[in-house]
Amino acid sequence: MVLTSEMSKQTELKEVAGILLQAATVDNWSQIQTFEAKPDDLLICTYPKSGTTWIQEIVDMIQQNGDEEKCQRSIIQHRHPFIEWAQPPQPSGVEKADAMPAPRTLRTHLPTQLLPPSFWEKNCKFLYVARNAKDCMVSYYHFHRMSQVLPDPGTWDEYFETFINGKVSWGSWFDHVKGWWEMRDRYQILFLFYEDIKRNPKHEIQKVMQFMGKNLDEVVLDKIVQETSFEKMKENPMTNRSTVPKSILDQSISPFMRKGIVGDWKNHFTVAQNERFDEIYKEKMKGTSINFCMEL
Ligand code: A3P
Repeated sequence: MVLTSEMSKQTELKEVAGILLQAATVDNWSQIQTFEAKPDDLLICTYPKSGTTWIQEIVDMIQQNGDEEKCQRSIIQHRHPFIEWAQPPQPSGVEKADAMPAPRTLRTHLPTQLLPPSFWEKNCKFLYVARNAKDCMVSYYHFHRMSQVLPDPGTWDEYFETFINGKVSWGSWFDHVKGWWEMRDRYQILFLFYEDIKRNPKHEIQKVMQFMGKNLDEVVLDKIVQETSFEKMKENPMTNRSTVPKSILDQSISPFMRKGIVGDWKNHFTVAQNERFDEIYKEKMKGTSINFCMEL
């Protein structure tokens, strides 16, 4: 990905410890790193395009005891402060979190090594959702195409190289997933897979509910399954990003709620790319026990 001088300031990326992040985030780094977590914070953690919005809506529906009207109180981006988000002059993610009453639900895309240390020190609960790398790459590619605040992805072939080299915002998928996977036994981390939620939403939602210390009956659970389906969330203006101006997300290029499936990578990867990717995956994920489902 080439950063040209014509690119608007908004799309500029800068590095922190070798990880590319939005320039405004890096400019605000000391505020982010000194963020004070509270012991009852719940932090939703994902690599971009892994089902963040989906798990946010699931968590909110659980917190609201399945009352979808209450989940309509604001757009999903405003319900859970995005810790590393900075877009001056608007209040930063840290400022929004600071202003929020406890118990707070927050979100981040940060890899473990860049997380504000107080989250570990306060032994917060973390909900991590991982999505298989190939679908994640496809989803991120289309997101780059429509997002006016991320660098242009170039062609699919160019983006393929960018992604496998981790030269995208929030860094390498491989390192992100490995990092969180390795932390899962040392902290209170519920590690979920996008593909599992897709295959058996009720079962996974039940796990989230138990992790959050809630107890909802079957009827409510069934309602949460329904209300958080791709079809419902695609039509829901509070989750589908339709309120975001075209100058930020141009949904005429690609919708935010694009396909919501497992295995779309097959429509994008060439046979050669797939073979090469599998080799790289084996090398980069060597030694980890994590296992992804690539199709349902
Ligand atoms: P696709 O681009 O493959 O369709 P994030 O919220 O982390 O940005 O992730 C966005 C991806 O999650 C998109 O993937 C989007 O369609 C998908 N998604 C959002 N809500 C979903 C749902 N309820 N069910 C399945 N996928 C969902």
